[in-house]
Amino acid sequence: MSEQTRFLLNESDLPESWYNVMVDSPLPPTPVLHPATLEPVTPDFLGVLFPMELIQQEISTDRYIDIPEPVREIYRLYRPTPLHRAIRLEKALGTPAHIYYKNESVSPCGSHKPNTAIAQAYYNKAAGTKALTTETGAGQWGSALSLAGNFFDLDVEVYMVRVSYDQKPYRRIMMETYGAEVFASPTDRTQYGRSVLDKDPDCPGSLGIAISEAVEAAATSEGVKKYSLGSVLNHVLMHQTVIGEEALKQMDMAGEYPDVVIGCVGGGSNYAGLAYPFLRQNLKEGQRTRLVAVEPTATPSITRGAYAFDYGDTAKMAPIVKMHTLGHSFVPPAIHAGGLRYHGMAPSMSAFCDAGLIEAVAVPQLVTFEAAVQFARAEGIIPAPETAHAIRIAIDEALDAKAKGEKRIILFNFSGHGHFDMSAYGAYFDGKLENYDFPKEAVQEAMKDLPKVEVRM
Ligand SMILES: Cc1ncc(COP(=O)(O)O)c(C=O)c1O
Repeated sequence: MSEQTRFLLNESDLPESWYNVMVDSPLPPTPVLHPATLEPVTPDFLGVLFPMELIQQEISTDRYIDIPEPVREIYRLYRPTPLHRAIRLEKALGTPAHIYYKNESVSPCGSHKPNTAIAQAYYNKAAGTKALTTETGAGQWGSALSLAGNFFDLDVEVYMVRVSYDQKPYRRIMMETYGAEVFASPTDRTQYGRSVLDKDPDCPGSLGIAISEAVEAAATSEGVKKYSLGSVLNHVLMHQTVIGEEALKQMDMAGEYPDVVIGCVGGGSNYAGLAYPFLRQNLKEGQRTRLVAVEPTATPSITRGAYAFDYGDTAKMAPIVKMHTLGHSFVPPAIHAGGLRYHGMAPSMSAFCDAGLIEAVAVPQLVTFEAAVQFARAEGIIPAPETAHAIRIAIDEALDAKAKGEKRIILFNFSGHGHFDMSAYGAYFDGKLENYDFPKEAVQEAMKDLPKVEVRM
């Protein structure tokens, strides 16, 4: 009998709540600080940027938070997402390991990002917000918020990093199709954007600069616009836990439990979404799954950065949090995994890595694309360059299991497809991609700019 390749849940199996890992965390919480005073932030300060319901989720002490019905209704357009067993990849590798992946690329815009975009748009609409501002690098997050804003009748203003704006016109047109306005950042629409352009009219932009512009646009709108972030914050990671809750049920259908759960990390949201429900099983139910976060060697915030308090953006307008960071002044090299080019990492992911509850590894660009192509040729789906980082380590685990003659159960998050990233694949095939190793000295230099924070805990 042939083995089952897809494990599908019914719409009625859609999770009813998100999982708040902070309640089960054995680690002390770290404060969020005001960027100017360096004192703990007040809800009033955060209220300029976010609706109160999301601020409350950020600090919630409830283990589970109900998913509102209007959000579940839109989730049903693509959730529950399939769990696949990559049998053809297993055969190609000749491994006794079983490789499973949770396919978040089936969402309307091709990645996990709508899981939080829909929730954030819902809570903003309920609070009377008229418009949302945000930044986007590669365009996955901007597409997701544009989609969600459209469903809840909110205007969406996207500050897209200029290099991506120029290189990825189709992502921009996708956002416009959903009704969003897209600007190449740095723009002349904000004071900060103008100050950057004054110094360098050809500035290619960065995620840090685009965040500063989107934050400024919301903060100076007198409450009309709020800001929306696609990763890093507790509430964003929590909205993604539908991925892991579904995967737990689907692994059960497959009659197996993962020995290792893998995901790529930019700000940490897709991996947290898959991994935190499995971390709960480790912490509460005595499971011993290894959890592995994968980052690029070009932006190695966990494996090379400091675990310190730092600003979330370049202009120092966003709150300061304790995280693994390469420094807020970090300008990332032009690798093709645009969604992984952020200087920081979610505070919860950083704390779990620091405590050894989650492992982190960094992989270079070329072997990452090699894994992406191997996956595409075996399984058919072309992965986003970000996702390919997880695939690299999943394949390495499967080959290690083969070398040791072990039947290892591997699960990874297929966070998005790469249909808008074909120019990156083209560059790889033309031999134009290079490996980048972020130099230790550059990290040390950037550390000089960290805020001098004394925290009384
Ligand atoms: C397909 C895909 N995977 C992963 C990421 C990384 O972000 P995060 O770590 O928040 O999941 C991104 C970010 O844009 C993305 O587009």
